[in-house]
Amino acid sequence: MKKPVIAIDGYSSTGKSSISKIIAEKLGIVHLDTGALYRGITWFALQNCVDDNGNIDLQELFKSFHIIKLEFKKVEDELVLYLNHINVSKEIRTAEVSNNVSLIAKQKEVRDFLLETQRSIARNGGVIMDGRDIGTVVLPDADFKFFLTASIDERTKRRYNELLAMGIESDEAEVKENLIARDKIDSEREIAPLKQAEDAILIDNTKMTKSQTIDAILLQITKIN
Ligand code: C5P
Repeated sequence: MKKPVIAIDGYSSTGKSSISKIIAEKLGIVHLDTGALYRGITWFALQNCVDDNGNIDLQELFKSFHIIKLEFKKVEDELVLYLNHINVSKEIRTAEVSNNVSLIAKQKEVRDFLLETQRSIARNGGVIMDGRDIGTVVLPDADFKFFLTASIDERTKRRYNELLAMGIESDEAEVKENLIARDKIDSEREIAPLKQAEDAILIDNTKMTKSQTIDAILLQITKIN
C-alpha cells in the first residue's frame, strides 16, 4: 500500500492533532501539527518583537525570520517543537500565545515563511498534516482530505481539559471566547482562510469519541487504498 498524504483541517479543538497523531502511528506515517508552527512564531514574537506599548511589532518579526529555526523532535514518543534549540511545547499552549496566534497567522509574510517548511515534509509522501489550510493551500493534491467540526460547547470542554492535563489552569469562559475569536479571524482572513476544501469529507464529531472519529477516517482511507 502506498503511504498516503492526508490533510486534516477544521475548527479549533475538534481534536485534529491528537487524532492525526494516532492515525500516523497506525499507518506508520509522519504527523505534522502545523498549528504548533504558528504558535512557535507567535511565542518568538512575544519574547523578542514587542514595542514600547507592549504590542507585537510585525515589521520587527518579519526582519527576524532568518534567525528562527523550527524543528520537531521526538521526546519520549511525543513530537515536540524546538525553537532555536529550546523546547517550547508547553509555552506555545499558554493563553497569551492563543490570544495572539491568529493575528500573527493572518500575515502573508508569516504564511509564506511556513509554507515551504510544511510542503517539504510532505514531499516524499507518508504524512498526515493538520491545520486550517492544508487541503486548500498547503497540500491541495493530498490523497485524502477531511474537515472536522463540533459544537462550540463541546470544543470548549475539550480544550479546557486538554490544558488541565498539561498543567495549565484556565477559565472555561475565556477558553470559549478565545476559540470563537480565533475561528472568526481564521475564517475571515484574506490569505488561506479556514474553510473546507471542495473535495474534503466533513466530519462533525460533537457526539463522537476520539476513537470513533479515528475509525471514520481510517475507514475512508482503507476503503480506497
Ligand atoms: O491548531 P491550533 O489551534 O494549535 O492552531 C493555532 C492557530 O494557528 C490557529 O487558530 C490559526 O490561527 C493558526 N493556523 C493557521 N493555519 C494552519 C494551522 C494553524 O492559520 N495550517
